[in-house]
Amino acid sequence: MKAKIQEKFKSLFGEEGQLFMSSGRINLIGEHTDYNGGYVFPGAINFGIMAEIKPNGGEVVKLFSIDFDEYVEFRLEEASAPTQLWARYIFGVCMETLKRGGKVGGFNAVFAGDVPQGAGLSSSAALESVFAFAINQLFNDNKIDKFELARIGQSTEHNYCGVKCGIMDQFASVFGKKGSIMRLNCKTGEYKYFPFRPEGYRVVLIDSCVKHQLAGSAYNKRRESCERAAAAIRANHPDVDFLSDAKRVWLDEVRDEISQEDFLRAEYVIGEVQRVLDVSDALERGDYETVGELMYQTHFGLSRLYEVSCEELDFLNKLARREGVTGSRVMGGGFGGCTINLVKNELYDNFIAKATKEFTEKFGHAPKVYDVVISDGARQLQ
Ligand code: GLA
Repeated sequence: MKAKIQEKFKSLFGEEGQLFMSSGRINLIGEHTDYNGGYVFPGAINFGIMAEIKPNGGEVVKLFSIDFDEYVEFRLEEASAPTQLWARYIFGVCMETLKRGGKVGGFNAVFAGDVPQGAGLSSSAALESVFAFAINQLFNDNKIDKFELARIGQSTEHNYCGVKCGIMDQFASVFGKKGSIMRLNCKTGEYKYFPFRPEGYRVVLIDSCVKHQLAGSAYNKRRESCERAAAAIRANHPDVDFLSDAKRVWLDEVRDEISQEDFLRAEYVIGEVQRVLDVSDALERGDYETVGELMYQTHFGLSRLYEVSCEELDFLNKLARREGVTGSRVMGGGFGGCTINLVKNELYDNFIAKATKEFTEKFGHAPKVYDVVISDGARQLQ
């Protein structure tokens, strides 16, 4: 990847820039809790996006995407927004940096990545973060704080890509640290690194390769449901800023005031907020069996209450349970993508073989298997 980027940069721009890298993420538990002010538990992974970048002294940003084999340029003004989605992410990062009073000048960039797209591994957050990080270093003497870099990526999704996401993906991509996952309180911004080396287990992702076209709007609808439920609860309990502040019994109080659908969404979120705390306790004890059991509970909630799973992911989850896998659940926003599985070393080969064979027989295409390593987030490469 590096050699290809460098070769292309040289041939397009006739010089050399600096290399930056950022990562996709996994999330152990805490799904759809971020925009509800709850906890998440992500870690950056060894799949990422690498970019070579150099300021060009002008007002124009010149970009080449190796993966799309496409060149795009834009000026640093709203009217110049590109139509290509991949370029809009970078445009959005520039605009959001400027809106916050940061500096951005013209630059040249070539980038490529190996984060599978649409698999729920946050390839878009990796793209936003690598550019937010580089712009901070190249134009702002690293004065923009790291949390703000994550927010720049999040606002890019909101304002330029139509997804009203939470902060988890961009946070993980910016703050990721090799060997550690991070528990983030999305309401206060407090976070803590937890070393994650589950001895005797492996973490493996199985990609259903299903991608739903309307995932963005379905995601936004989930968020709206949560906001309506929180507003109803707030009428009785004014201290409730987010759904994560609500007790389960408070949700029951408003059962007749909100739709059945909104009720189920909120029921899932309130349960999930508690599960993240239970997982933290279990991790402190090294009790991975409990972690795994909670992952299954999350899957159940995401499938039946939050309704962001699909037939393929439910199939993989059920198969994991049958094969004695410690924990398994749909990961990320849902509507396709991967399951994350915590599996004992001795069961690993059998599980992967069975999942691959049975999934292929049933759905007519093979799933993909990713062994992930918890890695560093946004950084400059030497
Ligand atoms: C997507 C969003 C995140 C988060 C997850 C679900 O990845 O970008 O903010 O809401 O879905 O946990």
